Parts: sequence; structure tokens; C-alpha cells
Amino acid sequence: MNEKLTVLIDHDTVVHRIAELAKQISADYRTCCTAQNPLLVLCTLRGAVFFASDLIRQLDIPCELDFVKIHSYRGTRPAEIPVFDLGENLSVEGRHVLIVEDIVDTGHTIETMLKQFGRQQAESVRVCTLLDKPSRREAAEVIPDYVCFEIEDLFVVGWGLDYNEQYRLLPDVMVYHPEV
Ligand code: PRP
Repeated sequence: MNEKLTVLIDHDTVVHRIAELAKQISADYRTCCTAQNPLLVLCTLRGAVFFASDLIRQLDIPCELDFVKIHSYRGTRPAEIPVFDLGENLSVEGRHVLIVEDIVDTGHTIETMLKQFGRQQAESVRVCTLLDKPSRREAAEVIPDYVCFEIEDLFVVGWGLDYNEQYRLLPDVMVYHPEV
């Protein structure tokens, strides 16, 4: 047992919530996303890969999957300006884009993507996140459209979230207690 970790949201609860959200997203996009213009799901690497793969397989609308990579964290301290490593020049003009995140914290990562894809004239851009930490928001205009769980200001790992690349594969969302 790792004493630095405590369960915040257990695996079954996450699985159940993702299924609910997939139904809602499918209903919301059913009329606008077609085989000719499928929903473009943009998974942010690396943290959102588990959430995105579970979510997209339950969407019953035409979808395509692509990836963006932006980095902002070093240890438990957020960096000021997120940087695109992959996906800056994705072609999103005229597309319905759904950005899938593992967590929205300060909001700077999402703010960067919204600006970028907005400039490229996407038909719509929405944000879906496993976790939302609104109390930490610095980019005030960033409000995710779909949220699995709103959480307090805790450092969480598991379900794709890491601490210095550890704990991503944990099956539950867990709180990391660095002081233990
Ligand atoms: C994390 C997370 C989000 C971002 C949220 O990514 O996956 O993309 O930080 O933070 P913000 O709202 O304060 O911008 P990270 O840089 O840790 O990369 P990773 O997903 O590869 O772990």
C-alpha cells in the first residue's frame, strides 16, 4: 500500500460517469455531425489518453480521433505558458471539435487551444474533461462544456494523471499527498 495515495473517485464511479457523458455528447452532436463531417475528437496527450479512449468508443455518432500535445506542468507547479508540442497546425476549419482533457486546472492549456483552433475557423470547439478544478482557474473565460467530476484543489493522479510520470496507470482517481 502506498501511503501517499488515497482514493478520491473509484474506478466504477468513473466508468459509470463516462457512459453518462458519452450519451449526452452523442445526443448534442447527433444532428450536426455526419459521415461527411464527423466530430473531431482531439485528445490531449498524454494524460487524457485513457479517458478519451473510453469516451470515444461509447459515442454513437460519426467521429474521428486525433491528438494534441501541450505541456504545462513540472512536478506539482504549473508553468506559466503552455507550449504546443504536437497539433498546432491541425486542420480544423469547418470542423466540430471536441477537446478531451484529463483535467482543467488554471485553464491556460485550454485557453491556448481555444485561441489556436478558433483562429483556424473551426465550426465549433467544445471542451470535455474528466476533472475540473474551478477554484484554481486563472483563465476566467475557460468553462468546460462537459465535466465528469468537479473536484477541490487537490493534487490528483491516476486515470492518466501523473506526478512526475508516476501513477498514470492507477485505475482510480487518487489524491497524492507529497508530505507523507
Ligand atoms: C496537464 C493536464 C492538462 C493541463 C491542465 O497536462 O493533462 O493538459 O495540465 O493544466 P492547466 O489547466 O493549468 O493548463 P501536463 O502538462 O501535466 O501533461 P501530461 O498530460 O502529459 O501529464
